[in-house]
Formats: sequence, structure tokens, C-alpha cells
Amino acid sequence: MLSVVVLISGGGSNLKALLDATQNPLYPVRILAVGADNPADGLEHAELYGIPTFVVSPSSFNNREEWAATLLSNIKHFEPDLIVLAGFMRILPPSFVASVSPRMINTHPSLLPLYPGAHAVHDAMVAGATETGVTIHIVDEGVDTGPHLAQAVVPVLPEDSETDLHERIKAVERQLLVKVVQDIAENKITL
Ligand code: GRF
Repeated sequence: MLSVVVLISGGGSNLKALLDATQNPLYPVRILAVGADNPADGLEHAELYGIPTFVVSPSSFNNREEWAATLLSNIKHFEPDLIVLAGFMRILPPSFVASVSPRMINTHPSLLPLYPGAHAVHDAMVAGATETGVTIHIVDEGVDTGPHLAQAVVPVLPEDSETDLHERIKAVERQLLVKVVQDIAENKITL
């Protein structure tokens, strides 16, 4: 059984997909806790499953290093095998990454290395891309630069709004994330 702490910033649909997957006794993953950088709506999914949550907001700290150290100690309290960034919209400092690497993964809504950063779906549309997708990767010290674990392609349709496209990406992303975490648990993916 792979034990996981998930970090989110928003609605948490990727988190919910993981939580739903853990309802199957054959899914070899246990979510120990869910953390966020703000009182994110998605924390409700964890609460409904009776899973502990924590919020560590940067605004409560003097600097990013103090914030990250507190976030890290909250995570380490649960002693997870893996940290999953599922729509966590903060960049973690190198000291944080170094202390958990390679056991922290991120999901990103583009085919990296295309469109890194916080506006990947918008950037793909502005570039006139006819396809984009999702990448799940190990987190390194850069922004969306770590080694890729899996990718899936999503076509950009002519009538797509940014919201439409992101929703279609997220439908694929949720399935891929559930699969990648399972593959890590079953040693089919080695970090
Ligand atoms: C996902 O597309 C994630 O890759 C991106 O933000 C979205 C979060 O969605 N960074 P949700 O909060 O899991 O619904």
C-alpha cells in the first residue's frame, strides 16, 4: 500500500478522482492527508472521506522559506511514501524539493515541455495549438521541468473556450493521475 499526501489549491477534482479510486479495495493507495495553500474548496472532498486536512497559507509567514518549512513539517508528520501535487499552484523552494525528491509528483495541463507555468491552457490556445494534453512528472527544482512519467494528448477543438478545453483536459488528467499513482504503488513506474 502506497501512502500519499495530496496538495491542492482549488476545486480538487483530481484529488476527488484519487479519493474515489481508493474506495476500490484493489487500488493499492492510501491517502493519509490533504494539504492546501488556502482554504480551497477541494478540501471538502477530503473532509467527506474523513481524511485529515491542513492549510498553510503563505500570507501567515514572513517569507517563502518559513512557509515552505511549515508546509513540509505538516506533510512529514504523516510520513507519506509519496507527495502528489494535484492542482497545487505554488512553486516550492529548492530546499523543500531536495528533501523529498524524487518522491513528489505533479500533474500539469499541457504536453510538457510545451506551456509550463500557471497558464498552460491559455498559452496553448494563444499559440494556436491543435493539440495539447497532460503531463505527470517528478517535481524538480524548476517550474514543470522534472522527468516525465506519463503524458496524454487532448485535441483542441475549433469551438473550444479555455474553460471547455481545460475541462476536457481535466477529464483525461484525472484518469491518468489515478493510473500513474497506481503504477508507482505497483512498482511499474520507478521514481
Ligand atoms: C489541473 O488541470 C491541474 O493540472 C492544474 O489545475 C487544475 C486543477 O484542477 N494545475 P482540480 O483542482 O484538480 O479540479
